[in-house]
Amino acid sequence: MKKIFAITILSLTFLLACQMKYQSFSPGQVWLDDQNTHINAHGGGFLIHNDTYYWFGEHKIAGEEGNKAQVGVGVYSSKDLYNWKNEGIALEVHDDPNSLLVKGCIIERPKVIYNEKTKKFVMWFHHELKDRGYEAAMTGLAISDNITGPYNYIKSVNPHAGIWPTNYPDSLKSLSADVDSYVRPSPEWKDAVRLGLYLRRDFENGQMARDMTLFVDDDGKAYHVHSSENNQTLHVAELTDDYMDFSGNYTRVLHGEQNEAPAIFKKDGKYYMFSSGLTGWKPNPGKSAVADHPMGPWTALGNMCIGTEDEMKTTFWSQSTAVIPVIGKKDAFIFVGDRWTPDNPIDGSYIFLPVEFENQKPVLRWRDNWNLTFFDKN
Ligand code: DGJ
Repeated sequence: MKKIFAITILSLTFLLACQMKYQSFSPGQVWLDDQNTHINAHGGGFLIHNDTYYWFGEHKIAGEEGNKAQVGVGVYSSKDLYNWKNEGIALEVHDDPNSLLVKGCIIERPKVIYNEKTKKFVMWFHHELKDRGYEAAMTGLAISDNITGPYNYIKSVNPHAGIWPTNYPDSLKSLSADVDSYVRPSPEWKDAVRLGLYLRRDFENGQMARDMTLFVDDDGKAYHVHSSENNQTLHVAELTDDYMDFSGNYTRVLHGEQNEAPAIFKKDGKYYMFSSGLTGWKPNPGKSAVADHPMGPWTALGNMCIGTEDEMKTTFWSQSTAVIPVIGKKDAFIFVGDRWTPDNPIDGSYIFLPVEFENQKPVLRWRDNWNLTFFDKN
């Protein structure tokens, strides 16, 4: 009897081990899900719920049209961060041509947070309208009672119509908003941009909201951080208590510094941000910043990558999208970046690297292969 029991346990362990095919991270390599398909969740956002990690991301398809939303937002789950189960499509695009979320629009960088009060999962994403390139610069909202969906599309907005950022001086509010009167780029234009040229242009109709992330603080307040003002300046916006709207309280941060791809995490009461510069799908040097409050002021800390010149110039050939806090490990954070492949977007891969702290600055180093025991050594 004992023997049969032992054999059963051994077989079960073996079966489990076969299912758990990965025991480490290999950044940039093909990464198979539980169905043996390369993970398809680009511009990802991560949510920890009931001791499980959920990875939401842009579901790409093959070919040139693959960067447009032909399917929607995919979601995967994992207990160990190495092995991911495909949970299907969380938010589906619509067939109805009258819907803003119609197939062929652009959905980027979806992020999901959980609202303890309403018990809803709240997804925000960068949304561009079909056949209008990147000009709409909206942020979309979808909600669900279940973490893996289906998510119900609610609306897309250009936030803060008629509302000034709390850190925008009265003295600048009446300056010209005539963007066309500047030669671009030029030092005059750059100065005007820093001082809010595009903010003033968009004041009445609402601000641009492109690359984005969400951050929920320990007190339950949630912040929507997005590239605004023609990608020149980030806006950090407080969400309402149900996370389904903008409270109206927002700040301009790192103005005129062209930050995209923001990702925020908190350590020892300080807030850290990774972001990128502005070069389309091509990689560029990563950036980092620190603040005492999500709404700033933020202080730039420079390129967080330590490595060869090429690695530092390209963020290890990736662009930031999220930072994952590791369950059960203090001060353990993982940087997540995308390696975009715009000619065949479905081939894009992912960079997971441990965040190290040196001289109170977060830094990243390349590792071909690593696992979570890395954090036990620190
Ligand atoms: C860079 C952004 O970070 C991506 O999300 C995407 O919008 C590309 N630009 C498009 O060129």
